[in-house]
Amino acid sequence: MTDRTFPLNTGAKIPALGLGTWQSAPGEVAAAVEYAVTSGYRLIDGAYCYGNEEEVGQGLKAAFAKGIKREDVFVVSKVWATYNTRVELGLEKSLKSLGLDYVDLFLVHWPLLMNPNGDDDRFPKLPNGERDIIRDYDHRETWTQMEAVFATGKTKAIGVSNYSEKFLNELLPVAKIVPAVNQIENHPALPQQEIVDLCREKGIHIMAYSPFGSTGGPLFTAEPIVAIAAKHSVSPATILLSYHLARGTTVLAKSVTASRIEENKKVVDLDAEDLDKLNAYSTKLEKEGKLQRFVYPPFGVNFGFPDKQ
Ligand SMILES: NC(=O)c1ccc[n+]([C@@H]2O[C@H](COP(=O)([O-])OP(=O)(O)OC[C@H]3O[C@@H](n4cnc5c(N)ncnc54)[C@H](OP(=O)(O)O)[C@@H]3O)[C@@H](O)[C@H]2O)c1
Repeated sequence: MTDRTFPLNTGAKIPALGLGTWQSAPGEVAAAVEYAVTSGYRLIDGAYCYGNEEEVGQGLKAAFAKGIKREDVFVVSKVWATYNTRVELGLEKSLKSLGLDYVDLFLVHWPLLMNPNGDDDRFPKLPNGERDIIRDYDHRETWTQMEAVFATGKTKAIGVSNYSEKFLNELLPVAKIVPAVNQIENHPALPQQEIVDLCREKGIHIMAYSPFGSTGGPLFTAEPIVAIAAKHSVSPATILLSYHLARGTTVLAKSVTASRIEENKKVVDLDAEDLDKLNAYSTKLEKEGKLQRFVYPPFGVNFGFPDKQ
């Protein structure tokens, strides 16, 4: 899947597959990034919050030293919630860690503001132990700053992440630049079809995160995934990644294991029967109130997702 791309509303192309770097430990992530890029991956997804951008940058540098060109790799970073009133500073810190002079896409990681003057750079807490969040902040102010950093050329595109239909409907009427991307959790146990449909209508490309259900891949054992994998004689991972290709969305697969980074390049064409089965699984989970959202930091903020009110 490494040679497949989708068009962005900027006119650029975004690869269909990316390597995720969340929870990729120091001592592992540089090698994973170098391995992925030299073996064909053309998108690396990172974030300031992951605390490993310096090592991601080392991995990229090592791949560039082996002849991969900077302009052939699509590098993504995200402004963290303590920097949502200081977007340019957030981007500059990420660029410095990555050792790059631009990223290809910069995203608002989550639409909330954590105290920029709190007791921690990334996860400030109040004396009572609760997260230190500025609750009356309007997330649209961050977007105005994103539009300003886009004008500097330090990012080739801007977008959002973890935006529900409700938050998009608040943002889009005031946005001078329509986000190029909305990066959301997405897999058959959380299809978030209402967001996918709205984004498609507005020309916003979906990047799907946690395609395996995040750490440890809990979706590998879901019944329809196992059955469809057996039918095609491939692994459950291949089915979970192929689902996104069929949906026209970019997918991010995290691994620090060379054999898995290799395996995750494989996709199959799912047929109508497979897609019906996966959609029926999603519908059943929704009806039973059993959709599975694996990534939901305890911010204590209502982001407008129907499954998390
Ligand atoms: N925007 C956001 O708020 C947000 C939130 C979450 C994630 N993301 C992005 O999306 C990326 C992917 O999501 P994720 O990291 O949550 O989880 P994921 O990619 O769904 O799953 C990662 C887990 O699956 C394992 N794995 C990978 N390939 C495998 C294979 N072929 N067979 C068996 N196990 C396999 C990995 O193990 P090993 O690493 O040990 O091989 C790891 O434990 C993140 O890394 C990040 O870049 C963004």
